Amino acid sequence: MSHTQKVVILDFGSQVTQLIARRIRESGVYSEVHPCNTDPAKIRALNPSALVLSGSPFGVRDEGAPGLPQAILDLNLPILGICYGMQLLAHELGGSVVASSEREYGRATFSVTKDCPLWDGLADPAKTTVWMSHGDRVESLPPGFESIGSSGSIPFAAMADEGRKIYALQFHPEVAHTEDGSLILRNFLFKVAKLKPTWTMASFVEESVAAMRAQVGGGKVVLGLSGGIDSTVAAVLLNKAIGKNLSCIFVDNGLLRMHEREEVIGFLAEHFDLNVKCVDAADLFLSRLAGITDPEEKRKIIGHTFIEIFDQEAQAIKGVEFLAQGTLYPDVIESCSFRGPSAVIKSHHNVGGLPETMKLKLVEPLRELFKDEVRAVAAEMGLPEHIIWRQPFPGPGLSIRVIGEVTPERLDILRRADKIVQHELVASGWYRKVWQGFAVLLPLKTVGVMGDDRTYEHVIALRVVDSLDAMTADWSRLPSELLASMSNRIINEVKGVNRVVLDISSKPPSTIEWE
Ligand code: XMP
Repeated sequence: MSHTQKVVILDFGSQVTQLIARRIRESGVYSEVHPCNTDPAKIRALNPSALVLSGSPFGVRDEGAPGLPQAILDLNLPILGICYGMQLLAHELGGSVVASSEREYGRATFSVTKDCPLWDGLADPAKTTVWMSHGDRVESLPPGFESIGSSGSIPFAAMADEGRKIYALQFHPEVAHTEDGSLILRNFLFKVAKLKPTWTMASFVEESVAAMRAQVGGGKVVLGLSGGIDSTVAAVLLNKAIGKNLSCIFVDNGLLRMHEREEVIGFLAEHFDLNVKCVDAADLFLSRLAGITDPEEKRKIIGHTFIEIFDQEAQAIKGVEFLAQGTLYPDVIESCSFRGPSAVIKSHHNVGGLPETMKLKLVEPLRELFKDEVRAVAAEMGLPEHIIWRQPFPGPGLSIRVIGEVTPERLDILRRADKIVQHELVASGWYRKVWQGFAVLLPLKTVGVMGDDRTYEHVIALRVVDSLDAMTADWSRLPSELLASMSNRIINEVKGVNRVVLDISSKPPSTIEWE
């Protein structure tokens, strides 16, 4: 998509580079992260309105430390250097950088030493809390620069060459601990670089629809609809762009939660006139899973069967040329980081292999968006809360929550228990506070007593976790009354269950799902 104004962030490898992009976008300016070793000609071709240089695990004097090509400086754009970005500017432009006597990490007090547009509106210019994380510091300023702020032991905690519109901060304005960080970033965007806040979700929808029409023309597109927020928003956007030339395929693998199929398809068909084909493949999936207890084998069977069915259905659509996917921006950045793709990419979480086997061209309407922006687009397009805030649900569905063999009877027990967990989370207001909450059916029976009778029945485990990105997670500290209510209801209402236990493990070393 072409954006009239964009800020390019050169990523030198900091853990929080993505946050800079998010903060800038929250201010209404489109922003993209590119590896610091991107060919300057490519950066120029992006036609940026301003540049931000990120932090880095390197020090500028380290061997192999990334530099700043002269061709980037020659673009004569407003520049904001952050942390390593500041040191790099000092180093490259004729100042000097030395190791600090001690590494400064965490909160620090920052004082403005010279008034400039970056500080407009600061609550207390003499004393504002900032977040630092650096071992090196700028010792002498490059020609043309002056100090605009200091902090504790470091005299040059911020510097500027106002004539060239180059500003640099030793602290991180993008992290929440920096009191006026968002204000400082906005000042750079609007007062220094003189940009306009035109990046809104309404403008995204409009431009994305135009871009997809241009990409696809009169071609046909196929999309696998899972009911998750990403594929749903991708479908609704494409539907707006190309209408009936989009065919969605929803595969009911028999491993969905109670009423899930109706909730997903029913709503979309009713409100968006989507072209959805629902393939009822429950029998096929369940027959292939019969007798299988190994988690990896279950996952493989489900993955292969899904591809087989999707492929068949897609081939049946005459003249289909494109495959739409709900890839998000963090996946795009992750796979082209200058340090190479991260080892933590979860291959089993994506349906790999589809494009290669099907020879389809990809359409990825969300590849510029962060997850929270996808939610904002969903709201913009009128999707309801229950879709916007739907918790993640794994591709292999309930099969990895029925521990051991997956049978229709055991799925039925889990579905009924899970429905109660979902209901209780929503009714208590905890659904949106936790990352995920669900029930797991264990492969064992235990003794209980109901009335005067001894029972020997199934155990349900409750798994509810807090997380930011599913890479790490901790068990949610739900109120005991809520847990009691879940447990009582499950035991009273779900025939076949006489015991409920709570999973109190964190990830790592456990995982969120049990299989
Ligand atoms: P784990 O269990 O690895 O899960 O801690 C991390 C997150 O990923 C989800 N998950 C999956 N999502 N296909 C998916 O689309 C999968 O095969 C899959 N396995 C786990 C899980 O629900 C959690 O949000």
